[in-house]
Amino acid sequence: MSPPDSLAAARARIAPAYDAGLFRDSGHAVSDALADHLAESLSGEGPVLNWNAPADNIAAATAALRGEPVGSNDEVADRVRGLVGEILKRGQNLHSPRYIGHQVPASVPIAGLFDAVGSVTNQPMAIYEMGPFASAAEEACVAALGEKLGFDAGSFAGFVTHGGSLANTTCLLTARNVLFKKCWEEGVPRSGPQPVLVAHGESHYCIARSAGLLGLGTRNVIKAELNDRRQIDPSALDETLTRLRAEGVPIVAVAAGACATPIGAFDDLNAVADVCEKHGVWMHVDAAHGGAAAFSPTHKHLLDGVERADSVIWDAHKMLFVPALCAFVFYKNREHRFEAFRQDAPYLFDPSDPGLAEHDSGMKTLECTKRAAALGLWGTWATFGEQLFTDLVDVTFALTRSLYEKLNAAADFEPLNDPQCNIVAFRYVPACLRDANDATLGRFQQDLRRDLVRSGRFYIVPTAKDGVPALRCTVMNPLTTEAHLDELLNELRTRGRALSERR
Ligand SMILES: Cc1ncc(COP(=O)(O)O)c(C=O)c1O
Repeated sequence: MSPPDSLAAARARIAPAYDAGLFRDSGHAVSDALADHLAESLSGEGPVLNWNAPADNIAAATAALRGEPVGSNDEVADRVRGLVGEILKRGQNLHSPRYIGHQVPASVPIAGLFDAVGSVTNQPMAIYEMGPFASAAEEACVAALGEKLGFDAGSFAGFVTHGGSLANTTCLLTARNVLFKKCWEEGVPRSGPQPVLVAHGESHYCIARSAGLLGLGTRNVIKAELNDRRQIDPSALDETLTRLRAEGVPIVAVAAGACATPIGAFDDLNAVADVCEKHGVWMHVDAAHGGAAAFSPTHKHLLDGVERADSVIWDAHKMLFVPALCAFVFYKNREHRFEAFRQDAPYLFDPSDPGLAEHDSGMKTLECTKRAAALGLWGTWATFGEQLFTDLVDVTFALTRSLYEKLNAAADFEPLNDPQCNIVAFRYVPACLRDANDATLGRFQQDLRRDLVRSGRFYIVPTAKDGVPALRCTVMNPLTTEAHLDELLNELRTRGRALSERR
């Protein structure tokens, strides 16, 4: 074939991939498959986790890549339906009311449709011009959520980034750059005492990871002492900062939790703010999970004092029930919005139009190209109103309290925390294990969880307390009921009994 002929042939082969009619047919097939799947999952039918060993799933995924390509509209719609079916039948069914596992929600399905609009039309937003309405939707959400946190309208700044880990890192990078004004260009000072980061003793691992990334060193993360509810002890924090100041150690930030991951402990943010203000230290709050409490008149007291923080992160893909990833960063002082990254890129940012550069997200985020990540939240909010978020928080928090009460009332269960939100850790301790040592008891929890989740009956997750493995539930589906929780306890009993008989 001559070059023009081969290009024509290539164009002909490309054409179906961009055919709007074909997209319509495939789109209908996908939305039907998703709606059927949701109906089944939400009703609690079928397994929660479709357990397959990684090798089986990789083999299936690889086989699909080796399939013969298809061309006609009908064939494409059939192929897409088949592939979507494969994804669904091998996936994790977060929408099952028997999913009570990680802090990842049964997302509001319509949020996914708004995400899909951003994906299908591809609105990457390094600069405003490349995703003008996606940028505007993000800015509208930043303003609304920031005000929910109690920041003064017009005086704070924020943006969306790809996940809570990156959000925390960005805030701590800003804190570092504010403390060491020349650090971005010259690196972390090498002479004198090494700078430290003081963090909630059970902060998410991404906080220590940030210290590694920022050149502070993970060994220079000081774990703030916790009280018996696993919250930062403010007087111990005061003592730590007093000592560090006396030793001339630079303190990059204090990172508090709202809430910390293991048991959902919310720090007393006003008390932490008092200490930070006294010592002139940057206060950061990781509100990845708990930020949503701001929507609930019943629970928003958990965040009292958050408006005094210099930086805050909040994952909408946790308790605002939108699909991953959509993480918000906030700075109390909007002047800090360009402190994390200082870059010239004349091929991208137009210095002759600084007013517009204000809306170029790439100036503030690590990402250059960025998914239109706020569309799901924006569309859900604009469709159902903010009462939905209030209700989601209130229902899931209340249900978790019921779970705690059930665990507390049962002789064979041991709750490990009195939940402040929708996270509760516990152990199943049948009579035969009451005198067991920690190693045996911990191993039993791990084996029991594996047996349970691979059965597909429920999905719960592991944790540990004082180094001894335990079980953990986060109620992330508002359609979970008291009956499901009773069923969970009974399922653990039945499986636990069988397990201990097999030992
Ligand atoms: C308190 C807290 N911070 C940060 C993260 C990390 O967020 P992401 O998974 O979006 O990176 C998590 C994840 O569960 C978390 O619980």
